Amino acid sequence: MPLFTAFRGKKVLITGHTGFKGSWLAQWLLLQGTHVCGYSDQVPTNPSVFETLSLSNQIEDHRGDVRDYAHLLKIFESFRPDFAFHLAAQPLVRESYRNPLLTFDVNIQGTANFLECVRHVDSVRGGLVITTDKVYEPSNEPREHRESDRLGGNDPYSASKAAAELVFSSYQKSFFSESTSPAIASVRAGNVIGGGDWSPDRLIPDLIRAWKSDEPVFIRFPEAVRPWQHVLEPLSGYLKVASLLMENNPAVRGASFNFGPTKTEDGSVQKIVDLTQKTFSDLKVEITPDHRKGFKETHYLRLSWEKAHEMMNWSPQLSLDESVKWTLDWYQHFYEGQNCIDLTKEQIKSYELRMENQ
Ligand SMILES: NC(=O)c1ccc[n+]([C@@H]2O[C@H](COP(=O)([O-])OP(=O)(O)OC[C@H]3O[C@@H](n4cnc5c(N)ncnc54)[C@H](O)[C@@H]3O)[C@@H](O)[C@H]2O)c1
Repeated sequence: MPLFTAFRGKKVLITGHTGFKGSWLAQWLLLQGTHVCGYSDQVPTNPSVFETLSLSNQIEDHRGDVRDYAHLLKIFESFRPDFAFHLAAQPLVRESYRNPLLTFDVNIQGTANFLECVRHVDSVRGGLVITTDKVYEPSNEPREHRESDRLGGNDPYSASKAAAELVFSSYQKSFFSESTSPAIASVRAGNVIGGGDWSPDRLIPDLIRAWKSDEPVFIRFPEAVRPWQHVLEPLSGYLKVASLLMENNPAVRGASFNFGPTKTEDGSVQKIVDLTQKTFSDLKVEITPDHRKGFKETHYLRLSWEKAHEMMNWSPQLSLDESVKWTLDWYQHFYEGQNCIDLTKEQIKSYELRMENQ
């Protein structure tokens, strides 16, 4: 029996469905008996989890730009979703230094276009805007960010996502405050790992690419510690929030939620490298000094997810070792030519079982 019954037989539109998180979300919703429609500009990587899971055969699959409001609206109007998730974004910090205008355009205007569609298409009962843990004003103090903390962001990616949160908040106050209007929320998470991510400038994809091409991987900050989490952890939170929005729950309407791992589950880059080398034993690693020349990333940050726990009984289900194992198992299956569709479904079902038994 699927866990998220609010979506059984319902129509859900996902922007960014060809990406890493969007593909996992589409697959999870398909397992709930949901009719899925996706809107993305392209399949962002090759290989991709989207193509590996053969998702285009199972959903209504559209190519388009979230900056093209008229086209996005047309897809909303023809599919008439009950609910919509907005994941489409330029999601990479380093790319945002190279291409700030595109990053601001896609991440801010794209969010406004998405919310405008939610506002104007009367089938839509709710929508969820996916931002990031980087929306908070950076601080050098080692403390946990709460949802009420001040927004900010020094690099263009973080600033664009903080601005997307302001767009969300403005739409909530201006257009969605009545209980009869669609119910929207925003969700913040980061450092996501899982099978099928081949994005540039992310640790495990970089390790896998280096292993595959038999080249050494250069690690700049082996001691850096990050709150890694498996992709199913934030997605389970998104689905919980979305289910409550479908019920028009007044406590969730207009709210923002953090999702992160438990404090004890932070892991260093070195630890992830070591675990990866255990599975992919001929991976070559070289530790190098920092050559980032002007690339600045937000220092170590961690999220408090107390609010999600108190309001929705959400908590992470996987240890760091399990999260990395599930991730590496997936890549190993892929490169050994085994069935990644079955493995993905098994991982989702095992995760659901843990949620049920928590
Ligand atoms: N992966 C992470 O660690 C992480 C962390 C925090 C937040 N996020 C957020 O989660 C969301 C999904 O991230 P991901 O890791 O799956 O990224 P991804 O790069 O794998 O996927 C991005 C998706 O957005 C689509 N897209 C990009 N520009 C577009 C445009 N102009 N028009 C239409 N579609 C466009 C791509 O085609 C793709 O489907 C993003 O909003 C990202 O900012 C991701």
